[in-house]
Amino acid sequence: MKNKKKVLKNKKILLGVAGGVAAYKSVDLVRRLKDEGASVNVIMTDASKNFITPLSLEIAAGNKVYSNLFDDPMSHINLPKETDIMLIAPATANIIGKFANGIADDLLSTCFLSFKGRVVIAPSMNWRMYDNPIFQENLRRLTAYGIIQVGPDKGTLACGEEGIGRMADVSEIIETIKSAFSKKDFFKKKVIVTAGPTREYLDPVRFLSNRSSGKMGYALARACIRRGAEVILVSGPSNIEKPHGLKAFHTVETTREMRDEVFKSLPATDVVIMAAAPADFSPEKEEKAKIEKSGRLSVNFKSAPDILSELGKLKNKPFLVGFAAETGRRLDRAKEKLIRKNADIVVFNDVTAPCSGFDVDTNKITIIRKNKELSLPVMTKDNAAEAILDAVSGAIGKQGGRQPIRKLRANRRRR
Ligand code: CTP
Repeated sequence: MKNKKKVLKNKKILLGVAGGVAAYKSVDLVRRLKDEGASVNVIMTDASKNFITPLSLEIAAGNKVYSNLFDDPMSHINLPKETDIMLIAPATANIIGKFANGIADDLLSTCFLSFKGRVVIAPSMNWRMYDNPIFQENLRRLTAYGIIQVGPDKGTLACGEEGIGRMADVSEIIETIKSAFSKKDFFKKKVIVTAGPTREYLDPVRFLSNRSSGKMGYALARACIRRGAEVILVSGPSNIEKPHGLKAFHTVETTREMRDEVFKSLPATDVVIMAAAPADFSPEKEEKAKIEKSGRLSVNFKSAPDILSELGKLKNKPFLVGFAAETGRRLDRAKEKLIRKNADIVVFNDVTAPCSGFDVDTNKITIIRKNKELSLPVMTKDNAAEAILDAVSGAIGKQGGRQPIRKLRANRRRR
């Protein structure tokens, strides 16, 4: 599997682990960052060693773990110099207080002061501490300086109490780091993404559906969020974790429900990405009671709404991206769908090709526009999503009359 262009490939991350109970999650965090292609240096505060050993983090990172300011008198200058982004997870009330007030009395706080790049903090503490106005003032000061905050979440805290203060999920922290490195060419654009299959019911227990997993649609939703869009995800039944940072999430079952949710969300939408595989037919009659077995069963079907075609007929239609999942290299069918449904882009993939079928993490796509096509090699669905968004962004930028996707000034630096 070709896996180039991971968002975090060759990125150098300096992870600060402060003394909170969520420190035990930092081993998983380091592993996941490395899986994404990053290299990780770890600084542990003395308090964090009450919760996790330096050896565990050293093994996970494959790097020496730093802790003492005076082991190498220059490490507070040299470590940040070699760093693309600093992440503090968990970030305790104490370390946030130090950062907000310029206190530099250990390796982590001195590195923070000397670092010239983006910083992400994942606060973690008891809700009473989180609620404290002095802490809130410290947090406000840091975010006003451009420090990126992820979490905390609500839930059961280490002390057994319910409240806000749980460190954000590792997957949400990783998405935040990826987002910090992503271009923001969809900044404030409203994008509707549909994903997954739909179900058409024969009776209360039986339905017709298809093999779509939703993976491609969810990958697109995540990529849009990273690139700054306000994303509404309309999803058929899927087991995939809901992306963090959605503007809205609607779950539907039937094609009619999907159509209605898309049209409800439609005003002021810039882009609709129809990655779902909505059923084309629904039974003419949905039985109210379970159909009893009696030899043969014949069912009459009626057409379900064709959402993309309906969108294509609108007078002020948003930019439309459709998919053509075909059995065989039927680019001709994909091109025909582009015209018939009046889409701006159709993404072709052959679901019978290796690494390109249902429920796998990879795809091999061809991006088709009116006079252009771009065939890409096998890649992860995350990378395929990035490539599709590059094509959308490029097409919108060149389209006269339609508002171009705003080019953000390099979202550089804050302090
Ligand atoms: N689509 C849609 N509503 C439907 C069926 C499909 O909006 N009822 C969208 C899909 O989300 C996809 C595109 O249309 O973006 C093409 O879907 P596909 O199933 O490949 O095409 P169909 O129009 O269903 O044609 P066929 O089944 O003959 O391939």
